[in-house]
Amino acid sequence: MSAGALIDIAKRLVADDKGLLAMDESIATCNKRFAKLGIPQTKEARQAYRELLIMTPGLGEAIGGVILFDETIHHRRADGTSFISVLTEADIVPGIKVDIGAKPLAFYPGEKITGGLDRLRPRLKTYFDMGARFAKWRAVIAIGDAKPSRACIEVNAQALARYAALCQEAGLVPIVEPEVLMAGNHDLDRCREVTEDVLHAVFDQIDLQGVMLEGMILKPNMVLPGLASRKRVTADEVADATLACLLRTVPAAVPAIAFLSGGQSGELASARLNAMNIRFKGANAPWALAFSFGRAIQQPALQIWHGEEANIVAAQEALLHRARCNKAARRGAYDAALEKGFAT
Ligand code: 13P
Repeated sequence: MSAGALIDIAKRLVADDKGLLAMDESIATCNKRFAKLGIPQTKEARQAYRELLIMTPGLGEAIGGVILFDETIHHRRADGTSFISVLTEADIVPGIKVDIGAKPLAFYPGEKITGGLDRLRPRLKTYFDMGARFAKWRAVIAIGDAKPSRACIEVNAQALARYAALCQEAGLVPIVEPEVLMAGNHDLDRCREVTEDVLHAVFDQIDLQGVMLEGMILKPNMVLPGLASRKRVTADEVADATLACLLRTVPAAVPAIAFLSGGQSGELASARLNAMNIRFKGANAPWALAFSFGRAIQQPALQIWHGEEANIVAAQEALLHRARCNKAARRGAYDAALEKGFAT
């Protein structure tokens, strides 16, 4: 595929203030979330839930791309329509998570390296032939005593760039996701320092390995204090720390930054994204500041659905609501009052 085609896909994913819906939880993670709510952990239940999500009426007004998991990309509706066709017909670009999860990093207790590079080239071709046009790979970096190690940062950065290069070769836009985790009692400044280190390493490798910046999307964490930190921060403080970090590390040729939510509530994630976009209102931001949320879009819908067919419509309304809130946040137009509902 040409460079131009990759650039067009990257732009399309975030056009019209849209963002991405991450619904690419592994079977184990999806089951864990179902178990918490007492939903049966079966293939049928996972299929029913994912079908509910992609069939949400109007989803394409706020969501430009959906990230699927390998099990989900193979699903079909009862009438035989593939999930990929459902998305494509709704003008939503189908994407696929291609890493196989974070594994323990040898000699570095408590740190992880993401796997999945072996046989990645033929797997990417298969997904492209099925209709996927972008992919995702998540690396995780923990903060703690003597963590992260230089080794953990470097091996994950190298793997992210290897994956990104293979994606572009296969005609898929790589979503590059180095996630600095929220677990820990570190403060905002420590998260900023680590995130900055990680992003420098990632873009060094992206450059070294010839990845085309214009044909990729960065999916970083927001800069936040650790979950166990007692310090409360405002949306403005998060926005300032996150943007200061990104402005120092992310080349302006990257078309979009699509944040992960990492366990923040839907409302907080929207408010913080909004605060960042307000800072660029009327000025040219170097990149689109978008979203690629999983839990911060899905959680209310999952709770409402609860495995019951009778709750599908209400769950879809909750999903669309969060997607619309985040679209508003991209315009710097999100307000807590919107949580009461959008005028239709
Ligand atoms: P969260 O927004 O729930 O962090 O999920 C995003 C994602 O894709 C994690 O890899």
